[in-house]
Amino acid sequence: MKYFPGLFITFEGIEGTGKSTHARRLYAFLEENGHPVLFTAEPGGTEVGDQIRSILLHPKTGGIDAITELFLFEASRREHVLHVIQPALQSGRIVLCVRFCDSTIAYQGYGRGLSIEMIRNLNRLATNDLVPDLTLLLDIDPEEGLRRSLHHTSPQELRFEEEFLKKKDVLCSIRNGFFKIVAEDPKRFQVISTVESKDVVFEKIKNYVLSMIQDKKRRNVP
Ligand code: TMP
Repeated sequence: MKYFPGLFITFEGIEGTGKSTHARRLYAFLEENGHPVLFTAEPGGTEVGDQIRSILLHPKTGGIDAITELFLFEASRREHVLHVIQPALQSGRIVLCVRFCDSTIAYQGYGRGLSIEMIRNLNRLATNDLVPDLTLLLDIDPEEGLRRSLHHTSPQELRFEEEFLKKKDVLCSIRNGFFKIVAEDPKRFQVISTVESKDVVFEKIKNYVLSMIQDKKRRNVP
């Protein structure tokens, strides 16, 4: 894996955990405190990626083949890594990214039933082996999460909720999938329950990230 001076932090979890809200709040906090920081999200993050995002999430796309869907996520990711994430990390920024490779393993692997090995290979190809320095896995009860997400998501982006996630056991498999991913690589993750208030959750996120920044600074000093 290539070394970058920046720090790559991803937010993962099922629907309705508040990933974007917390990532945006962290972005504002870090920026106010003088850190060079970038906020981004998948699918999307580039011109091409945003177009792929609307194909993937618009309800009019309907049911598509699971491998076609996988390729679309990976195509969006490759553009994102090459043109946005890697350059930002190279220039020393802290990149906050909502969803990344773990979402593909959880949703297309544990959710849709595609081979985990195949997805890992495609993830590696799409990202040039880029792995986050820290992944914050936000957790919520699937029913509550889906309820929140149906409330917040725009009608143009409801394909997953309408076509796939409303089956309760699917969302449970995806959530368990995330836990299996954590078990295989526990050092990279912090799992945070969102049962507590938003402020308490944010405080935890902030502390994990600040200690990561300190660690990185220490490691960069010869
Ligand atoms: P969002 O709600 O975080 O914007 O993500 C849109 C949907 O896309 C969400 O239901 C999760 C799904 N997704 C995958 O199925 N695979 C992936 O690789 C990514 C990044 C997202």
